[in-house]
Amino acid sequence: MAMISNEEINNIRANANIVDIVSSYIPLTQRGKNYIGVCPFHDDHSPSMSVSPEKQIYKCFACGATGNVFTFVSEYENVSFIEGVNIVANKIGMTLSQQVYKSNISNEHKEDYEIMELTEKYFQNNLKTTAGKEALKYLHDRGISDEIIKDFGIGLSIDDNNSLISLLTKKNYDIKKLIELGLANDIDHDTFTRRITFPLWDKDGHITGFSGRIYRGEKDISKYMNTKETTIFKKGETLYNYHNAKDIAKREKYIIVVEGFMDAIRIAENGIKNVIALQGTALTTNQIDLLKKLRVKVILCLDNDNAGLIATLNNGEELVKNNIEVNVIRLTGEKDPDEYILAKGIDAFKENIKTPMTFFDFKLNYLKQGKDLNKAEELSEYINAVISNLSKTNDPILKEVTIKKLSEEYGISYDILKNKLNDLNKEEVEIIPPSIKKDNTKRTAYSISADKILYFMMNGGIFINEYQQKVGYFPEEKYRNIANEIVYYYEKEGKISIADFITYASDKSNINSEVLRIVNEDINDEITIENMDEYIDALTKKITKDEIKELKEQMKKELDVDKKMKIAAQIAELKKGSV
Ligand code: GTP
Ligand code: MN
Repeated sequence: MAMISNEEINNIRANANIVDIVSSYIPLTQRGKNYIGVCPFHDDHSPSMSVSPEKQIYKCFACGATGNVFTFVSEYENVSFIEGVNIVANKIGMTLSQQVYKSNISNEHKEDYEIMELTEKYFQNNLKTTAGKEALKYLHDRGISDEIIKDFGIGLSIDDNNSLISLLTKKNYDIKKLIELGLANDIDHDTFTRRITFPLWDKDGHITGFSGRIYRGEKDISKYMNTKETTIFKKGETLYNYHNAKDIAKREKYIIVVEGFMDAIRIAENGIKNVIALQGTALTTNQIDLLKKLRVKVILCLDNDNAGLIATLNNGEELVKNNIEVNVIRLTGEKDPDEYILAKGIDAFKENIKTPMTFFDFKLNYLKQGKDLNKAEELSEYINAVISNLSKTNDPILKEVTIKKLSEEYGISYDILKNKLNDLNKEEVEIIPPSIKKDNTKRTAYSISADKILYFMMNGGIFINEYQQKVGYFPEEKYRNIANEIVYYYEKEGKISIADFITYASDKSNINSEVLRIVNEDINDEITIENMDEYIDALTKKITKDEIKELKEQMKKELDVDKKMKIAAQIAELKKGSV
């Protein structure tokens, strides 16, 4: 990737007013010294995003999105940071000293993608020939129009052992390469024969593999066959139709997730284009990351059988753990969304999308299944399960409402339920990840002070000096790393602003998300040395208090009287300093 200096990037930033750039994407209205707008990074209903022309940053107080002009553009456009810089530069009529390549088209795979494109064209053309008649009829019979065939690049691998190999080797592509890409099994056998072919794309829309479906009713071979794992095709990183769906999903604020790609195709063909397919497997971490990046609600609409039910439960759980809002649709009557739409029409399907269940409600229904709640034991099992699930959410209102409902519905004392939940919460509190929702776990005075001190430091040299003189060192690594980077940056650049420090931190994975979190914290304090000193006081008091506590523990255990006295003196000294 092109190496562009921070200096050059900061220069572009200084010339790009964040208010102008952000308002080229979303409407902003002035409110006091800041501007506010509806946040594009979560399902926002009231304006939660604030843009500060003074600090040249934005922050959403609902979902925690924060950054400078470049992070905004790269998140919004779903491109890398440096591509975001390039877009901003273009918008204000500047050019970067070096060309920025789309980070995802690495030249390394240029030829691979070229071969895949040629293969797709060849497969598509097969459908138009006499050899493709039967396959085409199969597709038409399934209600797949010529337009969809074209849109989704559907094709055919014909009844011939090596037609693809011979085409591509005539174009001087190495047979070894074709085997490597999973297009050939050996020097004279194509991987795909007698199958309807569906190209599979990576997140950026490069064709990386194919899936082939039987269409002549063969009984002894698998229904679908996929390209094997290759250097470009990674099943666990592929979500069918993601590249088409991502922008529309962001606009619509949700994405529908189905099991099979015929389902995705059927839904998309009917105008709902924010849909992707899992291809029959459980979500992997990489796939969850792709979904997370969209910052939209996920509507799970999996098959109407038991496997689909369990997959909904498991995938939903994983998504929720990753702070993704999940809704669920359970269709009735037909086996999958494809058949449902064919049988009942798109309007019936749309009704389902309008009124999905929350994942929590889906779970309650699931937990109830097969239980006779008139029996004390089964009721208790059910209620325990609900409370255990409840303890994993971090929505206090949902907790309250659910407990009330349970208490009324089953005549169980509210206090008993509440106590049970509190007990579980105490155990769980540590594992709640730093969530995109405002975290409601208890914050200590110490961590709040540390955040604020670091925040002040990002605002200028005088605050960095103050830190060096009065604090000098954070015992915790996570704060220390940030403080060190701030000091280093300032020494190197000779100046510092929040917006530029965000640029600097953007490719430092050990501090980036913490820096953004700290910047997002609602800080109404005026940036003055006096205010900073208050936090420094709180912090040092806390440090002293901890030291005293530690020494007292030591003193208790110490048997030697002389040593005991020495520790007591140390404690007295610390106490003196802290008042
Ligand atoms: P149709 O029968 O064509 O309607 O397929 P479907 O989309 O309804 O697929 P189904 O629900 O049977 O399976 C869901 C997904 O699992 C498919 O889209 C495939 O990606 C995958 N799948 C299904 N059968 C096979 C198979 O035999 N082999 C492989 N590798 N994948 C399969
Ligand atoms: Mn199907």
